[in-house]
Amino acid sequence: MIDLHSHVLPGFDDGAPDEAAAIAMCRMAAESGTTDLVLTPHCSNRYPFDSERVEEARQELQTAVGTLIHLHRGCDLHLSMQNIEAALSDASRFTINGHNYLLVEFSDELLFQGTSEVFERFRSVGIVPVITHPERNRHLRRNLRRLARWVRRGCLIQITAQSLSGRFGESAQEAAILMLDAHLVHFVASDAHNPDGRPPVLMKAYEFVADRWGDAEADRLFIDNPWAALWGDPIDLAAPRVKRRRSWTFFG
Ligand SMILES: [Fe+2]
Repeated sequence: MIDLHSHVLPGFDDGAPDEAAAIAMCRMAAESGTTDLVLTPHCSNRYPFDSERVEEARQELQTAVGTLIHLHRGCDLHLSMQNIEAALSDASRFTINGHNYLLVEFSDELLFQGTSEVFERFRSVGIVPVITHPERNRHLRRNLRRLARWVRRGCLIQITAQSLSGRFGESAQEAAILMLDAHLVHFVASDAHNPDGRPPVLMKAYEFVADRWGDAEADRLFIDNPWAALWGDPIDLAAPRVKRRRSWTFFG
């Protein structure tokens, strides 16, 4: 499996506190069947992002773990105006493995009116925005039709593996399942922050998806799609199928 979203690189954000924890997390990931792990420190007001420092630290950690797991560079880009302009001017500093897929994280305060235009601007310069864990955002999870519109315009969606087991509450769990039912999900990633409460482990979520939606769908979400994103290849998209339900249309 390929894990596109993790905070394993030590000393950059609220993820792994030190190298020992980072190495332990790499071992846990490998033991759970992950072959490739993308290191995606936050880029936000709280955590400034320096792609050269990230790359140096990635190489150091890769040397420390040897052939246990392949480590790649990425970023968890907070959607602030400053970050949006920075990504538009030099995307490869922020994208997954320097190609064209970009993890984007919403702030609770972001005005949704401007978001579609931001995504259009990203698409116009070849960036594919990957919306991270919308099931955990109380605004985003209420409106699957809005997510579907963004997907039809070229955005992709990543949910968090632990959302499926209820780690982020019932609402996030239910929303993740609805999104999978609606063909709105393209990646499942760990968004790991530490070895204990938020480990880089995907196998349990893989088995849950395989049991409920079939092996082919699990392979698509945990292996095929993330592998394509890792190397900048196109992804085959199933059309979203959001049912017109009263509770969703009310918020539309
Ligand atoms: Fe994250």
